[in-house]
This record gives sequence, C-alpha cells and structure tokens, in this order.
Amino acid sequence: MTARLNVNIDHVATIRQARRAPEPSVVAAAMICEQAGADGITIHLRGDRRHIQDTDVVLLRQAVTTYLNVEMAATEEMVKIAIETRPDAVSLVPENPNEITTEGGLNVRPNIAIVRAAVNRLREAGIMTSLFIDPDSHQIEAAREVNAQQVELCTAAYAEATLGAHGIHGEGAVRANQELRRLSEGAALAAQYGLHVAAGHGLTLRNVGAVAEISAIEEFNIGHSIIANSVFMGLERAVREMREAIRAGTAYAR
Ligand code: PXP
Repeated sequence: MTARLNVNIDHVATIRQARRAPEPSVVAAAMICEQAGADGITIHLRGDRRHIQDTDVVLLRQAVTTYLNVEMAATEEMVKIAIETRPDAVSLVPENPNEITTEGGLNVRPNIAIVRAAVNRLREAGIMTSLFIDPDSHQIEAAREVNAQQVELCTAAYAEATLGAHGIHGEGAVRANQELRRLSEGAALAAQYGLHVAAGHGLTLRNVGAVAEISAIEEFNIGHSIIANSVFMGLERAVREMREAIRAGTAYAR
C-alpha cells in the first residue's frame, strides 16, 4: 500500500514571519495541500516560535479535515498546548534553540522519564503519539518501552548522502544505500514491535522513491522540498508530484 503523505507547512509560516504579515496564510496552504491529496498536515510548534504560532495550531485544528500532526519538544508547555488543542497526532522531537532545523532524532534513553511522562499524558488525551528517532535498534526499543504508538525514522543521514554532484548514483551511493538499509531494518523492527512507522527529513522528489519502497513505512512527513518546489510550480502541483514520487517508488523519473 502507498504510504500516506503529511505535508509540513512550517515554511509557509516562515515566509509570513519574515514580515510579521498576515500572508501567506497557513490555513489556505493546508486547504490547498488537502485538495491536492495530502493525507495530513504537519506543523512544528517550536519553543522559539520562529514560524508556527500558537494561534496557527488553534486555527489549523479547526480547518484541517484530514489529519493534523504537531511536532513539539517534550516540555510541559508543549504537552499542555497539545492537550488543549487536540491535534490527531503529536510527534515528539528534540529541539535545540540554535539549530537551523531538527538535527537528528530524539535520544530517548537518557530522557526516558520525561518522554514516558509526555507519551502517557498525550495518549490519555486520545492523541496518537509518535517519537522522531534515528533508525537505531536501541532507540526503537526505548520507544516501545515508553509506550509510543509510532516512530518516525529520521531520514536526514540518507537524504544527506543523496545530495551533491553525484547524488544517489555517484560517490554518495554507497553511503545512501547503507542508510537505506538502516531505515529498512529499523522500519521492520519497529513494525515487529507493533509500532506504526513514519519517516521524514530531507526527502525530495529525487530521493523519496527508494525510501517509499520500504513497505513497513506507512507515512511520510515532508516539508522543505514541497514548499521549495511550490515557489516554481505552485503548491498544488508540488504536493501532487510528491504523492506521485511516493506512489511510483524507484520507478519515479524526472
Ligand atoms: N519530520 C520531522 C520530525 C521534522 O522535524 C521535519 C522538519 O520539520 C520533517 C519531518 C520534515 O523535514 P523536511 O522539511 O526536510 O522535509
């Protein structure tokens, strides 16, 4: 079965916040993504509020009819916001105030008490709870231990290996294939533990196909590439093309 696509629309808010202006509207963006066949909308409410704002979470909760996934750090402030606004899913992510974007997955083990408490409170509120982790058996085991329902495997290392002049067919290919194997083994282990499996970070039209061939992966969260492509081709087409790349797997060619 083709994996679902949640479109991360943080960058729409990034453009808006650059001018502290009313446009572009994240609600309008979410509607276009849904019309184009997105299975859900993902946003990251960061502690520093650099893009998505608290009011966006409230408005998107009212407007999104598919599936709203909110990424957040496992802090008291964020868990409270999630319980009040009731997104369909929360993805717990690590957050470093100086990072440009999320840098790798959560290190669950050293933070196990905090993560477990957050997972329990979110699940009690009826919110599907996912942990963004590296495709590493220790992290997957820790995710199971804290009762998470889903893991989102971080594809950043794979994506990085596919960048550069030679991309997936050149000198990065060996590393990309090693990372693909890690993702595939991680996805299989998580599924064997009864966890739902998502994946994301750094995926593009060019590199998503190989990850989409991993049958245990049920969901993708993709933002930067879709919003970047939308500058040239419009948001609706950018979403449709990413859906097609996921559906076609490695057969996708551009
Ligand atoms: N998944 C998680 C947990 C993320 O933090 C991000 C980035 O916000 C993504 C997926 C999407 O990554 P990208 O914007 O590189 O597609």
